[in-house]
Amino acid sequence: MKDLLKKIDYNNIPDHVAIIMDGNGRWAEKRGKLRTFGHEKAVHSIIDSLNACKKLKIPYITLYVFSSENWNRPKKEVDNLMYLFHNYFKDYLKEVHKKDFRIFVIGDICKLLESIQEELIFYMNKTKNNKSATLILAISYGAREEILQATKAIAKKIDKGKFQLQDVNENFFKSHLYTKDLPDVDLIIRTGGEKRISNFLLWQSAYAELYFTDILWPDFRKKDFLEAIINYQKRKRRFGNINSH
Ligand code: IPE
Ligand code: IPE
Ligand code: MG
Repeated sequence: MKDLLKKIDYNNIPDHVAIIMDGNGRWAEKRGKLRTFGHEKAVHSIIDSLNACKKLKIPYITLYVFSSENWNRPKKEVDNLMYLFHNYFKDYLKEVHKKDFRIFVIGDICKLLESIQEELIFYMNKTKNNKSATLILAISYGAREEILQATKAIAKKIDKGKFQLQDVNENFFKSHLYTKDLPDVDLIIRTGGEKRISNFLLWQSAYAELYFTDILWPDFRKKDFLEAIINYQKRKRRFGNINSH
């Protein structure tokens, strides 16, 4: 771990890292267990990643917890996940608060159990003045849904005569997204071997670097997070220009 920390360039820390935490089900099935066992084991990897963020002073981290498409999974799996969210958020969001992280939630949370919604809102309020970093939980989140609701909100304002079509530029559009106050994503990490985005932060990751690893999420540790950052720091980001940043 110390060797990895030595390789980190503290002048090139990403502002915003987003993680697609994939592979829980396969991790459990490989051990002859129920998929839900894999979801339970996800917590350790989350805490490790948050600790790494704190150590490196990464200001924003987004975790893809549950997608808008995950609602289509068999009822039993969805129920299990809701049960886990209900049980785990109480204890672990308290831990996150102790780390001085601000908690912010993106997604259509109205679909979640009321008790889960209340817990999330409670912690968003309780942690709103925390300064170490911002943890964004993408839960019941879909990027297409986010873009659609922004488009509808803008159309409504234009319809009411509050704005003109020519007012709609990138900044204006961004100000209608769930992530309006957050910086663009610099790095997306996806565990579990699949090389896709699965409807995650489509607008915000227009120029994100992508890092894919075969490690299944429950096996992902602090050292794996550091390796992703070291890999990111070797990239040449050009943003369409010819000089790298
Ligand atoms: C990610 O793990 C967690 C959620 C999507 C909620 P999966 O449940 O997708 O696990 P795999 O990809 O089937 O192994
Ligand atoms: C993406 O994983 C969603 C989360 C990690 C919450 P999925 O397992 O749902 O993605 P697909 O179905 O493999 O694209
Ligand atoms: Mg999956």
